[in-house]
Amino acid sequence: MMTPPEIEGFEISGLLGQGGMATVWKARQLSLDRMVAIKVLSPRFAVDPEEIRRFCEEARATANLSHKGIVQVYDATFANGLYFVMEFIDGYTMGQWQRRKGSIGVADALIVAENVATALDYAWKQHGLIHCDIKPDNIMVDADGTVKVADMGLARTYTTMGGDCDDVLGTPNYMPPEQVQGKELDCRADIYALGASLYHMISGRLLFDGDPHDVMAAHMERQAPSIRFINSDVPVPVTLMIEKMLSKFAADRQQDWLQVLADVKRVEKNQAPAGVSADCVSSMGRDAETESYARSLGKKIVWKKPTQKKIILRAP
Ligand SMILES: Nc1ncnc2c1ncn2[C@@H]1O[C@H](COP(=O)(O)OP(=O)(O)OP(=O)(O)O)[C@@H](O)[C@H]1O
Ligand SMILES: [Mg+2]
Repeated sequence: MMTPPEIEGFEISGLLGQGGMATVWKARQLSLDRMVAIKVLSPRFAVDPEEIRRFCEEARATANLSHKGIVQVYDATFANGLYFVMEFIDGYTMGQWQRRKGSIGVADALIVAENVATALDYAWKQHGLIHCDIKPDNIMVDADGTVKVADMGLARTYTTMGGDCDDVLGTPNYMPPEQVQGKELDCRADIYALGASLYHMISGRLLFDGDPHDVMAAHMERQAPSIRFINSDVPVPVTLMIEKMLSKFAADRQQDWLQVLADVKRVEKNQAPAGVSADCVSSMGRDAETESYARSLGKKIVWKKPTQKKIILRAP
């Protein structure tokens, strides 16, 4: 049993969950009489005052984001520890859903992809922000079926606060090669991470499994098998779209979120993603059907602006 923290102005009502770096509590904010989620950062990440100051500053910058597809951050405070006060989501994460069901249907996964792409396009275009830790556990679905990206802006700060504790800095399971190498990142890093999340959700398997160091090396060097080797019911265009998102070189992926949205629209109509052909360097092992399909491509497809879709909620 964990003891709930005492935070002035809030009445803690229960534990929501625990991640690698923090514990999340459900609480009532007394002044505004609203339910919130409070993320309490483990004390071993809150040591250096200068880093804490920067952490709070960046979290407050994230509080300027306002989008229905992003879990709203209300405030960050330091009092006996580091707290983030954020929108309470009455629902579950895609990670919880996937673990419960084994895998997620293609149609639902595409709705997730579309909503995450729309939210991250907003964060990138309007605020120049990337997420850096897109994974099924940071994608939530609320009671009304709305898909929301959680922990926006926190991961980047985690990285700067990591110091010598990089063994607990989250999971490398969805990490693009350029992030493994510590290079400068842009929205294409999140596109890879969403690709790795879709691969996991749809196939029920991680792109690469094993010890974190091996997984990081695998993102740079190894080929994961095509999703169709795991589940041959997954349509070829969907596997090609995910394959494109997972290109080892950012230049071979969709170049921004609008291109991801365009590809989602195409594959929903069972059409191939843009620019994919047999000549594309694939980072995945393809099955014969995917290979011959890719070889036959070359048409141009027009894309219309998407409307927001919701997941029909089923208890995980
Ligand atoms: N805003 C929120 N509303 C409701 N529940 C939440 C909210 N944010 C997080 N949770 C719950 O708390 C759990 C832990 O979240 P947390 O972000 O600490 O861990 P994580 O995303 O699994 O991993 P990481 O430590 O890498 O971020 C989530 O899986 C989710 O169930
Ligand atoms: Mg999280």
